Amino acid sequence: MYTLIDGKQVSQAVKDRVKDETAQIKENGGEITLAVIIVGDDPASRVYVNNKKKACEYVGFKSVEYALSADTTQEELIDLIKELNARDDINGILCQLPLPKHIDKWAVIAAIDVKKDVDAFSAYNVGKIMIGDYDFLPCTPAGVMEMLSYYNIEVQGKKCLMIGRSNIVGKPMAMLLMHKNGTVTIAHSYTKNLSELSKEADIVVVAVKIPKFLTADMVKDGAVVIDVGIHRMENGKLCGDVDFENVKDKCSFITPVPGGVGPMTIATLMQNTLKAYKIQHQLD
Ligand code: GUN
Repeated sequence: MYTLIDGKQVSQAVKDRVKDETAQIKENGGEITLAVIIVGDDPASRVYVNNKKKACEYVGFKSVEYALSADTTQEELIDLIKELNARDDINGILCQLPLPKHIDKWAVIAAIDVKKDVDAFSAYNVGKIMIGDYDFLPCTPAGVMEMLSYYNIEVQGKKCLMIGRSNIVGKPMAMLLMHKNGTVTIAHSYTKNLSELSKEADIVVVAVKIPKFLTADMVKDGAVVIDVGIHRMENGKLCGDVDFENVKDKCSFITPVPGGVGPMTIATLMQNTLKAYKIQHQLD
C-alpha cells in the first residue's frame, strides 16, 4: 500500500506558517512586497504568475506585477530590475522564465540584487546552496524537501536518484538531498542503463519533461517517487514524468500530478520572500 504525498496539504501548512509570521510583521507596521516580472505572453507563464500573485494575497504579501511586451529589450528589463533593486519597499524580485530568445536570462538573473533573488537563481545564491549555507532555497527542490520532511521520510543513508540535471531542479535538488546525507546519483539523457540505477534507488526524483518517463519496471519495491513533471495529455488531463497508475503500487510514497510538487513550489517562494524581508530588516 502506498501513501500519496499530498502537495496541497503540505503547501497549505507552509503557507499558513508564512501567513502567521507575516501577520506579526504587519502588526509591527511592516509590509512584504514581491515584484513579479513577466515578459511576453507565454500562457503557461501567465498561469504561474497568476498563481504566485494569488499566493501572495493569501499569505498577506503585496505583489506588484510588471507585465512587459515580448519586444522589451534586455537593457529595458535590466533597467527595471535596477530600479526595483534600489527600492526599499520591494523585498523580492522574480522574473518569470522563460524569457524571449533575444534576452540573455543569465544577464537578467545576475542583475537581481542577491538579497532579493527569491528564486535563488543567481550564481551567488546557487554557490551558497552548494556550500550548504543558504538564505534562499531553490523553490522546487525546497518544496520536495518540505514534503519529505512532512511525511517523516528519512534521507540520511538512502540511495537517492535525481533524474534530470537542470539548474532549476536537478542540480540544486541533488545538493539538498546530499546536505541531508543521502547518497545521491544524478542521471541525465546520456546516462547508460538508467533502469539499473533506478531499480536500486530508495528515493527517485524525476524532472525530465517527458510524460510517463519513469515506468513500473524501473522502480524497486518500497521506493519513494517524486514527480516534478507536468504535461497536458491529448485527452486534456494532466500527467507527470512518472507513469503514476502503474508505478504507484510499487511505492511506499508517491506524489500525484496534479496536486504533488506543483503547489509546493509556490509555497516555498512565499517562504523565500518572507526570508528576504527578514534579511533586509535584520530580523534573521
Ligand atoms: N519558470 C518555471 N519555473 C520557474 C521558477 O521557479 N521561477 C521563475 N522565475 N521562472 C520559472
